[in-house]
Amino acid sequence: MTQNEQAVSASGRHAPLPPIHGPEAFAGMRRAGRLTAEALDVLMEAVAPGVTTEALDRLAYTFAMDHGAYPASLFYRGYPKSICTSINHVVCHGIPNDKPLREGDIVNLDICLIVDGWHGDTSRMAYVGEVSRKAQRLCEITHECLMRGIAAIKPGGSTTDIGRAIQAYAEAERCTVVRDFCGHGLGRTYHDAPTILHYVEPSYDVKFQPGQLFTVEPMINLGRPAVKVLSDGWTAVTRDRSLSAQFEHTVGVTETGAEIFTFSPKGLHQPVNPAA
Ligand code: MF3
Ligand code: CO
Ligand code: CO
Repeated sequence: MTQNEQAVSASGRHAPLPPIHGPEAFAGMRRAGRLTAEALDVLMEAVAPGVTTEALDRLAYTFAMDHGAYPASLFYRGYPKSICTSINHVVCHGIPNDKPLREGDIVNLDICLIVDGWHGDTSRMAYVGEVSRKAQRLCEITHECLMRGIAAIKPGGSTTDIGRAIQAYAEAERCTVVRDFCGHGLGRTYHDAPTILHYVEPSYDVKFQPGQLFTVEPMINLGRPAVKVLSDGWTAVTRDRSLSAQFEHTVGVTETGAEIFTFSPKGLHQPVNPAA
């Protein structure tokens, strides 16, 4: 098998080969990842009952402008906002609006900032006030899925190792893995090869190589995995309206495993219930 044949998509066609990046790219990704994670810290701390997702979006835009960065999602393929805000049964790509967050909501905040041309892409769940135990449990399982997926990145392995680790844990916890959205290569572009599936699909498998840059961003549901996109063309929801959660990190493959670029500088990687 030639290098160009190593990535075969689920449709049987050959997928583009993931680019291999050097030390300069890693330095750029560290800066972009850190600033993006800092922006997400600001957003996490602003979440409260009564706050609108529109206000969070403005906060993100202002943060980007104040730090010489640009929000990658703004005008990306016609997307109108700087962040995605996905509440409760919204799986991903929820569009910020003027509806206030309500006590008990769980909301995914997804932000990607471009810093000196490099993309840092990260998302976390936030709790709006006190949330139910089952919502909290879903968020904890989903964060664990992300971290297990990243821990599966080892020399000699391949992208299926990520999917296997995530699917095994999610399903052991009686949750399901969303199939319709996946992680992606990134760097100077927002969405690049390789595709990172969060479940096992043997027909798409790419060997890890130091210098690859991609996201891991599992979406995990309490109910069935099926998703539909609303008429706005973006908002993806669970078909059975069950709760969905997601966490995302941007990583780089190294000689020994993976480097995470988007750790929270303030340690706000996981939300906490106020009463807990
Ligand atoms: N940030 C999302 C991701 O993790 C992509 C959002 S695209 C948008 O890949 F246009 F919806 F913003
Ligand atoms: Co992403
Ligand atoms: Co993202």
